[in-house]
Amino acid sequence: MLEVLHRDGLSRIGRYEVNGRKVETPALMPVINPNIIVISPEELKEKFHLDALITNSYIIKKDQVLREKALKEGLHKFLNFDGIIMTDSGTFQSHMYGDLDLEPDEIVKFQKDIGSDIITILDIFSEPEFSYEEAQDAVKITYERAKEAKKFAENATLAGPIQGSLFLDLRERSAKLMNSLDLDYYPIGGVVPLLESYRYSEIVDIVMASKLNIDFGKPVHLFGAGHPMVFAISALMGVDFFDSSSYVKYARDDRVIFPDSTRYLSELKYVPYPSPYLDRYDIEDIKKMDREERFGIISRHNLHVTIEELERIKNAIYEGTVWEYAEERCRSHPSLYNALKELYKYKEKLERFENLSRVHPFYYTGPESLQRPSVLRIEKRIIDRYKYKRKSCIVINDKDTDKIMKYIKNIDSHFLVKTPFGYVPYELLFIYPIIQSPMPAGSEYVENLNKILDSIDFDVLISWLKEIPDDISGIKNYLQEKERDLDMLRIRAVADYQFGKGASNFLFNGDVKIIKSKNTGMIRNIFLDQKHILSMRNDGFFTLKMDGGKILHKNLEFKKLRTIVNRESEEFNRKGKNVFARFIVDMDPELRPFDETLVVNENDELIGVGRTFFNREEALTLRKGMVVELREIIT
Ligand code: GUN
Repeated sequence: MLEVLHRDGLSRIGRYEVNGRKVETPALMPVINPNIIVISPEELKEKFHLDALITNSYIIKKDQVLREKALKEGLHKFLNFDGIIMTDSGTFQSHMYGDLDLEPDEIVKFQKDIGSDIITILDIFSEPEFSYEEAQDAVKITYERAKEAKKFAENATLAGPIQGSLFLDLRERSAKLMNSLDLDYYPIGGVVPLLESYRYSEIVDIVMASKLNIDFGKPVHLFGAGHPMVFAISALMGVDFFDSSSYVKYARDDRVIFPDSTRYLSELKYVPYPSPYLDRYDIEDIKKMDREERFGIISRHNLHVTIEELERIKNAIYEGTVWEYAEERCRSHPSLYNALKELYKYKEKLERFENLSRVHPFYYTGPESLQRPSVLRIEKRIIDRYKYKRKSCIVINDKDTDKIMKYIKNIDSHFLVKTPFGYVPYELLFIYPIIQSPMPAGSEYVENLNKILDSIDFDVLISWLKEIPDDISGIKNYLQEKERDLDMLRIRAVADYQFGKGASNFLFNGDVKIIKSKNTGMIRNIFLDQKHILSMRNDGFFTLKMDGGKILHKNLEFKKLRTIVNRESEEFNRKGKNVFARFIVDMDPELRPFDETLVVNENDELIGVGRTFFNREEALTLRKGMVVELREIIT
């Protein structure tokens, strides 16, 4: 079972547990060929600190000695490895060498008998050159075999590969079919030929078609992906497991793996990514070694840099910089860059999984950074939620925001600011990701003026894009005596942006007091009729206090902003305990990761306020772990 501990968009750091054995994800399972062990499972555990590996049950079964030993000792003793052992079924051998003399049930049963932790069914490898009909058959037969295997697998953990060749509708169908079987583990299969020929953008389409149709709470494995170059973009799409024989296969040909490339040993004078096994001081010596010795060293180096890349990715997920990291990594090869561009085509779908904000500022790594889902979010929410009537709309450049301060309070106008993220109303300039985002001079911007203007209510459009005029007598009709309260305008716009259209009408209906920091002048706390309802964070968003939650609960229709828990959970939540996945009955589909939420019971009685780490589709499919951190409970 997978518990998601940290997440950044679809990428996640998880704890996967099977048969009492645990591994942290994203994880690499090195392939162990029981006939030719290069790095022993013991060394994998002791020196490389790996908690999972994959081996092939077909290879074990067809060799009498191995078979009998594995059956007698059990797989873990047989391989001398007490971590998670996944077994593959022989499908890959059929892709390599043609039809095998193997019954689908027989190989599943064998995997069970030898005590495999994750058993792979005998799927049909859907080759990239398959016709639609062939791919359709592969999907159908794979599904039927998985259904059959489920009948006699009892409580064993079954891996059900997603097939469908290059046909995305088939990949989607395959994912939906396999998902309907409620298996425990989902590899994406049939991609090795694409990986080998750098067809990464097709892999993006395949992974997205599959991933978005598999329950979020289930682990996803990209079968045969073992080169670290593809890890970052795969993790960004929510892949949890990789497996690799590349570290030994490449080493056999004297090829040295780096996180961004592969080089022949003979080409190297310097070592761009050194390891304890290979650095520039011994490289000439290694070149002179005999073949077997060299092979051992390069294999270890290859494995070392492969694992290190996962560590960097985990760090990026943890600190919320996985987009930045993947964008950087995808610049190492034109095919990867293409794949990244392909991924941005899914930004609308990715937006559902996108964090409300991050601790780390948004770093621009190139024009494509502005295609990230967090940028699309700004546009969507302005269009849906920024709904105020003003006489005019004045459009300005972001470098001129200081200059408008002398007018802004006296003109009944929207001030729409041209930023790299598109056109943003002045009141929303201080939220993530707009705030504190270092942008290089002259960076591109998202052109969405017409879209935004169409959604805003005003009578007259005025452009001050070229310059801010010194004399504003031309617009004196829009001037007003009474100064506008900019802080009030801002908290209204942020509240509506964050909690939904019109939320500000209820939240600020009464005597509103805005408390600012004495040191920085930043808005900190909001009181309504002497009650503390909201606090403003450094990311420009609000933290909901219990009294604010009560107002939203009373006024927002049922399910809006709600996380609905069952009775069993309610008892604990009323004592202040956090909300766990298994007890969630439903959730507002508009909630996004890191949004504030109202925790209620099935009768919509308010229990408390907190922050959700997951959206609805995630929360309802996770089986384990905390979903909402309860901050305050009703007393
Ligand atoms: N190893 C690499 N690709 C595949 C695949 O599609 N199916 C199985 N079972 N193993 C694989």
